[in-house]
Formats: sequence, C-alpha cells, structure tokens
Amino acid sequence: MITPSANILCFGAAHFDRTLQCTEHFVPAASNPVRTLHRKPGGVGRNIAVHLRLLGNNVAMLGAVGDDGDGEQVIAALSDIGIDTRRMMKLEGKHTAGYTAVLDETGELALGMMDAEVYDLLTIDRLKAQLPNLQAWPWWLIDANLPTETIQWLAANKGSTKMCAATVSPSKSARFKPVLGQLDVLIANRAEAHVLTGIEINELPQAKIAIELLRGKGIPEVVITLGAKGVVSSSNSGTAFWHPLPTKLRDVNGAGDAFYSGFLSAFSKPDTDIDDAVASGLAMASLTAETDGTTVWNLSQDAVATRAAQAEKTPL
Ligand SMILES: Nc1ncnc2c1ncn2[C@@H]1O[C@H](COP(=O)(O)OP(=O)(O)OP(=O)(O)O)[C@@H](O)[C@H]1O
Ligand SMILES: [Mg+2]
Repeated sequence: MITPSANILCFGAAHFDRTLQCTEHFVPAASNPVRTLHRKPGGVGRNIAVHLRLLGNNVAMLGAVGDDGDGEQVIAALSDIGIDTRRMMKLEGKHTAGYTAVLDETGELALGMMDAEVYDLLTIDRLKAQLPNLQAWPWWLIDANLPTETIQWLAANKGSTKMCAATVSPSKSARFKPVLGQLDVLIANRAEAHVLTGIEINELPQAKIAIELLRGKGIPEVVITLGAKGVVSSSNSGTAFWHPLPTKLRDVNGAGDAFYSGFLSAFSKPDTDIDDAVASGLAMASLTAETDGTTVWNLSQDAVATRAAQAEKTPL
C-alpha cells in the first residue's frame, strides 16, 4: 500500500548543542581547560522535523538563525535531507541559538547555558506577510520556543490548518496556556502537563484527571508522556494507558521529541486514529532510546511498524 505523505510545517528551534568537559577541577569565574565531547544539531523543532522527514513526510521548517557559520550549517543540514528551509530566517547581526553544557572533571553538569535570543525575534511582524502561504500547510507543529504572542497569533489565524503543540520544557510550556482551546493535538511530559493543569502527576489516576482536564479545555487529542512508565492518551474514544515498548536502553535523550514525530507522522495521514498514532509515537521513542544521540538516521518504516505493532493500551 502506498501511504500518502503528509505536509507538516515545523516552527521552532534549530541550533547546535555543545558539550564540553573540564580536564581539571572546575573553578567558577575562571578560565577552565576543557575538551569538546560533542557538537550536534539540536532544538525541539529541528529534532521533530528531521524524524518526520526521515519517516517520508513532506516537511518544512520555519525558525531563525543568525548570520554566522552555525546558522549556515543548521540550514544546510536540514535542506540536505530534503526539508524545505525557504522559511528559515537568517537575521543580520544576530547569533544562532545554542545550548552549551559544561561538565566538571567527573562528568556532572557544572554549567548549562542556553542562548535562545534569536527565537524571540520570531515575531508576528516577521510572519504576517507569509500567512497565506503558512495556511496552505495542513499541519503545523509549533514548539514553545516561539514567543507567546506569536503562538497566540498563529492559533488565531490557523484557518483550516491543524496545530500540534510541542511543549519543550516546563517553563516554556506555559506559553500554550492562552491557546489550549485552539490546539488540535497536545503532547506534553508530566512536568509540562503539571504546569498546564496545576495537577502534579505521580500516579496514573492523577494523569487521568490531568489529561481529561486538558481535553475539557477543547483539545481533541492529548497525550501525556510519563518517561519510563509510558504514556496516557485521551480523545473522544476514551482515555488509555500505554506501557513503553520493550527497549534496549542506550540514550533516552530525544525520546520525547521522537514521540512527537512518530505520533504526527501517523496522525497527519488520512483515516489514522489516535491509537495508531500513539503506537507509532511509542515506536519512535523506543527506537530513539536505543540510539546514541537524538536522531535515528537509519530509520525504516518497517522498523517503526514492527515496533508499533507491539503497543498495547489499557483503557482507564
Ligand atoms: N527509560 C525508558 N525506557 C523506555 N522508554 C522510555 C524511557 N524513557 C522514555 N521512554 C519513552 O519515551 C517517551 C517520552 O519520554 P519522556 O516522558 O521522558 O519525555 P520527555 O521528558 O519530553 O523527554 P525529552 O528529554 O526527550 O524531552 C516515553 O513516553 C516512553 O515511551
Ligand atoms: Mg520533551
């Protein structure tokens, strides 16, 4: 069977993550000798867009970079795998965003630094003229690195486009609070769901209350991811719990972002219900947790389908 590809426009962060480790005892407020452990592409929007593309979807990315070498590399890396980067903004005199982690000599995080200033420049003014074109995409994936006003403007102007919210972090997830009723899909981890609902989620009954509260705000499809415990999903067909799929754990980094890609890749296709989408999300999270880094480069549709076939839900 030929599965039609969806058309998904991803808004949000695309940058480099760097990890440096001190070679001697870490001294604050001093020059510390370090070695660079890695420099890898990252950003929630980028992580989701890349997996969506590797799953065969037509994908575009709208984000912002500075006029520097990092920015050029970010755009080239997306476009090399066939992501449409024509809406990536290269902002003169600005610096591409980036996360830098400094580990002490024992490998513990000594300092984490996120420069996300360029994402604050994804303003309504910069997007306004493009609106008719943006509305031509059937799906938008919006990561919470966008400014609150821009998220509100997009939600108010989505037209017939469906909008999926990627919450990014507990603090940034609050940016979706004013637009919950306009979302078509919300996927959040338990800490982000706590921010959005005020409900602390430790056990399944709390997850059920929180997810149904979010549905009650008018969101048709909601998923709360619970780390190693799995996920809960809720739609008009009911609320359910899903165990994670059997996983040979290697590096859970990016598993949450991968869940979005698997879910949206399936759900954006005609006649896919939330159960198939959750199964596909779990499969992508599991495959990513078996891989070093955030991207499964050798992804195959078969591997995802085989893994997804093992998913089982328990109605709550
Ligand atoms: N230790 C684990 N074992 C198996 N599966 C896992 C594990 N941790 C996470 N997963 C899978 O990944 C999904 C998403 O994980 P989680 O809820 O931790 O997202 P997150 O906090 O957004 O992660 P991220 O740090 O990638 O943003 C889980 O629902 C589960 O399916
Ligand atoms: Mg996450």
